[in-house]
Amino acid sequence: VPSAASPAQIRAEFDEIASLTPPGNPIARDAEDWILRNLPERRELALDVGCGVGELARRLAPHVRRTEAIDLSAGMIDEARRRSVSSPSIDFACADLFEWLDGRPATYDLIVSVATLHHVDLESALRAMARALRPGGRLLVVDLCDRSGPRHLLTNLLAMGVNAARETVALLRRRSSWHLRQAYRRHGRNETYLRLADAEDIASRCLPGARVTGTLLWRYRLLWTR
Ligand SMILES: C[S@@+](CC[C@H](N)C(=O)[O-])C[C@H]1O[C@@H](n2cnc3c(N)ncnc32)[C@H](O)[C@@H]1O
Repeated sequence: VPSAASPAQIRAEFDEIASLTPPGNPIARDAEDWILRNLPERRELALDVGCGVGELARRLAPHVRRTEAIDLSAGMIDEARRRSVSSPSIDFACADLFEWLDGRPATYDLIVSVATLHHVDLESALRAMARALRPGGRLLVVDLCDRSGPRHLLTNLLAMGVNAARETVALLRRRSSWHLRQAYRRHGRNETYLRLADAEDIASRCLPGARVTGTLLWRYRLLWTR
């Protein structure tokens, strides 16, 4: 279930979010830490799909010879370039992921994507990313998922407590702001997310042997080696 917003609307909303995003978002950091723990052995060329302000690409840079990082939002790419002047091994580009991947078969040792694929059709995106990996290359995806329903009440209450504590710490450390939270709230109002079981189903259809796991804070993690 891709986001109800059009690419133009997604681009405009993230252009606004770009300049409001401080470094070190604590929730994205969990995803980045997991990605850094699961890197493949060969790391000549990596791609970050939906790179936002480039935080993950900068954290990958010491571990990968070259990184390409793409985003649909020109605002995000401007901000990412501005913040990455001391990471010359990263090439940023403003591009739609399908157009970018289409011209690059069997190219990357590593493709990563955090909090981006709910904006597009997951199966098409996974197939496109799988084609763009070299044999032996690795795909690491983290995205939001829906865990509503009474069966999950206790887990969700625990997650809400953890999330509220993290948001408060982030606000106090100025790693978030009221304006950023409002911008994300407006952006997220019409979004829909897959359930973990749907993400598992889709992954098993197009990436045989993929490992998909859920996390406390409403995310799934997908690891697949071509
Ligand atoms: C929630 S942000 C996540 C940014 C970053 N990965 C992070 O974790 O902080 C989602 C990003 O995906 C980008 N995006 C959405 N659809 C895209 C597409 N079709 N191609 C490339 N980027 C896209 C948006 O512009 C936005 O910057």
